[in-house]
Amino acid sequence: MALVSAKEMLEKAHAGHYAVGAFNINNLEWTKAILLAAQETNSPIMLGVSEGAGKYMTGYNTITAMVTAMIDSLKITVPVALHLDHGSYDGAKAAIAAGFSSVMFDGSHYAFQENLEKSKEIIAIAHAKGISVECEVGAIGGEEDGVVGNGEVADPKECEIIAALGVDMLAAGIGNIHGKYPANWKGLNFEVLAEIQKVTGSKPLVLHGGSGIPTDMIKKAINLGVSKINVNTECQTVFAEATRKYIEAGKDLEGKGFDPRKLLAPGTEAIKQLVIDKINEFGSNGKA
Ligand code: 13P
Repeated sequence: MALVSAKEMLEKAHAGHYAVGAFNINNLEWTKAILLAAQETNSPIMLGVSEGAGKYMTGYNTITAMVTAMIDSLKITVPVALHLDHGSYDGAKAAIAAGFSSVMFDGSHYAFQENLEKSKEIIAIAHAKGISVECEVGAIGGEEDGVVGNGEVADPKECEIIAALGVDMLAAGIGNIHGKYPANWKGLNFEVLAEIQKVTGSKPLVLHGGSGIPTDMIKKAINLGVSKINVNTECQTVFAEATRKYIEAGKDLEGKGFDPRKLLAPGTEAIKQLVIDKINEFGSNGKA
């Protein structure tokens, strides 16, 4: 199956009260693990690519070629959207030109009027090609210089204005944070989430920082309109843990255990299992 825009899968998720997982990819192993997990659970899936991961994988063209070829060779039949995560204005244009089927333009660090103008431009360029667009209002918190902030909370009025541009999915800060949540985290702000959904109609909402959020909060967020949940850190930690275990057990020193195809296998399997668990938790299993 060719890459698809995220619009239809997210509208279906919104109407059906489940969420589609958007899992960040870093290399071939990550991509393979996530695609196989989606196929095994018969779930739609989004592959997120940060600009940093884009550079790491030598550019957006390489990624589009790898993902489309892998969908074909693994005989993946579930809907797959290849999505730029936290794209800049130029990055979003570059990903569109390279054949991504979905992009996020993150203008949340600009003054609101500039975010609005740039969002409008990216939406026009993407929609002309049938590509879905995510925009962001109210930056998502995270670790900066070792200090973990308490996730920003978006202004519902600004969300209403950006949603009215015709964006396909809207990311809005509701106290969520990228990376690990601190012990004193206050949790998601459901009042603001409910208010944002009220003023944005039936717009699919996006929850960033999906790693480490307790299941009851995930379910409540989905019930209030979250239709896409981004997960990155947990895939990284399970991969690192499984790889460390392999090396600490001295497996790389046994026979040809140093072969990268063996060395990377436990981490890859750990990502696949985690993605299966998340798909089941988000309720997108069987929804392809
Ligand atoms: P985590 O790394 O906290 O899972 O967040 C992922 C994310 O939101 C990517 O945009």
